[in-house]
Amino acid sequence: MKAVNIVSALIFAGVSSAQTPAGFTPIVAEKLEVTFGTKNIATGGQAMTKAETSRQPTIGISGPANQTYVWMLIDLDASTNFANPRAGQPATYLHTVLRDFKATGAASGDGVTTLTTTANGPVAWFAPQPPAENPPHPHRYTNLLWEQPVNWQIPSAANTMLQNQRLGFNVTNFITAAGLSNPIAANYFNVTG
Ligand SMILES: *[C@@H]1O[C@H](CO)[C@@H](O)[C@H](O)[C@H]1NC(C)=O
Ligand SMILES: *[C@@H]1O[C@H](CO)[C@@H](O)[C@H](O)[C@H]1NC(C)=O
Repeated sequence: MKAVNIVSALIFAGVSSAQTPAGFTPIVAEKLEVTFGTKNIATGGQAMTKAETSRQPTIGISGPANQTYVWMLIDLDASTNFANPRAGQPATYLHTVLRDFKATGAASGDGVTTLTTTANGPVAWFAPQPPAENPPHPHRYTNLLWEQPVNWQIPSAANTMLQNQRLGFNVTNFITAAGLSNPIAANYFNVTG
């Protein structure tokens, strides 16, 4: 019985893909539940509208969540030229970083534990608002969740990135500067301008 379970677990692992977009590093295997109003991002790359994503989503993870967490939203498909995107270079843009997320209670029937925070930063909610482009250009809005270190004080180099380097944001460099481990959960949705 045990062997069968292991085999099916392996098969399952084989078909389930990363929760981060192709080519993005670090690769994250666990799904972050991201829900705008009542609309859940069921699979990575799900198309959403600007109107649907205008308000901050609810997030959650599977299983117990007894830590404190940091959530980040980045656009992988911004341009260094917002007014005329095709005239610029592709660039990552940092939208939001909120800290101090904790479980609100026990996991619900589907095994998901909702996480909430009263923090409004270090980078307040900034909704997806990609500019119109011809041809239309889907932007991959990528959500990352980290375990927040105990008594986390954001080092000044990391804070500089958050406040002054939002365009051209480099997640790998931020992880190092901020003293974080790799993200534990991720998900992404697409919005087209
Ligand atoms: C969280 O839960 C895990 C597994 O249940 C346990 O090993 C760990 O010690 C807990 N951590 C805290 C900070 O309570
Ligand atoms: C982030 O910076 C590192 C060097 O510190 C570089 O190797 C990597 O390509 C950069 N990532 C992106 C997405 O630009």
